[in-house]
Amino acid sequence: MTLYEHDVIVVGAGGAGLRAAIAAHESGADVAMVTKLHPVRSHTGAAEGGINAALKDGDDWHDHAYDTMKGSDYLGDAPAVETLCKDSPQETMQLEHWGMAFSREEDGRVSQRPFGGLSFPRTTYAGAETGHHLLHTMYEQVVKRGIQVYDEQYVMELAVTDEPEPEARTCYGCIGYDIKTGELNGFIASGGVVLATGGPGQMYAHTTNAVAQTGDGQAMAYRAGVPLQDMEFVQFHPTTLPSTGVLISEGVRGEGGILYNSEGERFMFEYGYANNDGELASRDVVARAEVTEANAGRGFEDDAVHLDMRHLGEERITDRLENIIHLATDFEGVNPLEEPMPVKPGQHYEMGGIETDENGETCISGLYAAGECACVSVHGANRLGGNALPELIVFGARAGRHAAGEDTGTPQIETGPSARIEDGDVEPPVELGAVKSTSTVADGGTKDDSPRSVVNATLEAERERVDRLMETDGINHADVRSDLQETMTANVNVFRNEDGLKQALRDIRDCRERYQSVGVSDPSRTYNTDLIQTIETRNLIDQAEVLTLGALARTEFRGAHWRQGYQERDDEEWLKHTMVAWNNGDPDLYYTDVLLEGEDKRYEPKIRSY
Ligand code: FUM
Repeated sequence: MTLYEHDVIVVGAGGAGLRAAIAAHESGADVAMVTKLHPVRSHTGAAEGGINAALKDGDDWHDHAYDTMKGSDYLGDAPAVETLCKDSPQETMQLEHWGMAFSREEDGRVSQRPFGGLSFPRTTYAGAETGHHLLHTMYEQVVKRGIQVYDEQYVMELAVTDEPEPEARTCYGCIGYDIKTGELNGFIASGGVVLATGGPGQMYAHTTNAVAQTGDGQAMAYRAGVPLQDMEFVQFHPTTLPSTGVLISEGVRGEGGILYNSEGERFMFEYGYANNDGELASRDVVARAEVTEANAGRGFEDDAVHLDMRHLGEERITDRLENIIHLATDFEGVNPLEEPMPVKPGQHYEMGGIETDENGETCISGLYAAGECACVSVHGANRLGGNALPELIVFGARAGRHAAGEDTGTPQIETGPSARIEDGDVEPPVELGAVKSTSTVADGGTKDDSPRSVVNATLEAERERVDRLMETDGINHADVRSDLQETMTANVNVFRNEDGLKQALRDIRDCRERYQSVGVSDPSRTYNTDLIQTIETRNLIDQAEVLTLGALARTEFRGAHWRQGYQERDDEEWLKHTMVAWNNGDPDLYYTDVLLEGEDKRYEPKIRSY
């Protein structure tokens, strides 16, 4: 056991984590990254499409902000959306100056292409592997600066004090399990802990997300007392390979790829799903259209539709989308230069997450979040393609600077329970939250308020947890996890109804109860993936419950949340953010205001059509 001390600890080393670490370092902090994967194996590397940035003549950050607010179905917070759109160009140019290999025009300028829901072709890209290049570019900067990276250290819990009110608590660090040795280590952060741990896609059976995407940061922050915001809004990407969930970039449609049903019809226009933008409507619209086609008997095997890009020609495809040829050939056995690719919607992105303000700060002092694990909120009810990567770099940088003590301006977004405007009103079909009433307020928090003793006490509690899991001769977590994935996929998908959501809550409860008797059968302390995945599974259960509770309560149709029987967006009743807080093991559902007031205008909700 070792105690490490730094000014700023960044948990996770994907795009947001790398950017936060570089920014904190530039602000003069001693920063370290603690990550369960090596940085260049992070899931950001799977991001294909690009980075939206108003860079070119004829474009303007105001238009990017307008598109993003409309895309969010007016659930994004304007101050955060405007920050994203204003800062994205300079952050993108920063990547260019660090040597990122962007695709280029003949004259050498970086290329941009159309993406869904955008009024201007503003998606900057590097072939169809933008995330891969972004990761490598920023990791180079981390290495160049000598930033300490503790990789293959799985952060299991935050070290947080346990005052009754979350807003009075402080985060002093975190506990890491060294995957190589089985040692538990404490990490003390005098400035702040920045969570950049990605999304919880492994809640679903069919997802574009890597197996490591278990939303650990979200679950840890939730149990420490930070509300999870708008978790019911899950993005299902319209074009994933049916057999594996591997992503086929929206860039294919951006370059002119066409969707067909089994009747050979270009259904986006034929059936009026999006008469103006067709295949380039926003993702929620296209995903619903595909499922509707399959349900009407106009799909192919495994409820797929066809995505055809052959007419673009080999030269253009190889130049701009080469990666797609390899993905479709290797993972689906289809050569897209010769035949259309079967595609169907798959879980891709969690719009909700850890509630933060524009500086990435949560309601717990010293605790920050950025990237997919956070909800600042720029995506609201639906994220536009190409808006995730700018979120990583814009809010990663802001969180890193703020944690390092820089003044990044007064936030307009209020966080924590004091922002509550209304209590939730829904009757779940089962009891929710902790199975036993023994869980502490901060679930691992401690009363002693010196950083070292808070970290030490949490370390001790986590050691007991590991020992208990290793010693229990119980059921395997994998059975629980697959049941969770099955019910989420069946009941909390593109189309949702009350019975299905209630069934999901019953199934999640069953998973939680069975989880009480999981045990780890692999006795090894070295690379014990059984142990890591057992801990991750508990994190998935907590988040699935929050997500489904929010979805059951929200009786309207907004963005990615379609509800049977509620076919309209209901701004009168539902123009509000969903919050769920782990209140002493008892999930507390409440709502906060959506901020539509921008710098110089209000984004008045309009009918959203494409
Ligand atoms: O389709 C894609 O390339 C994905 C982009 C994104 O999620 O932003």
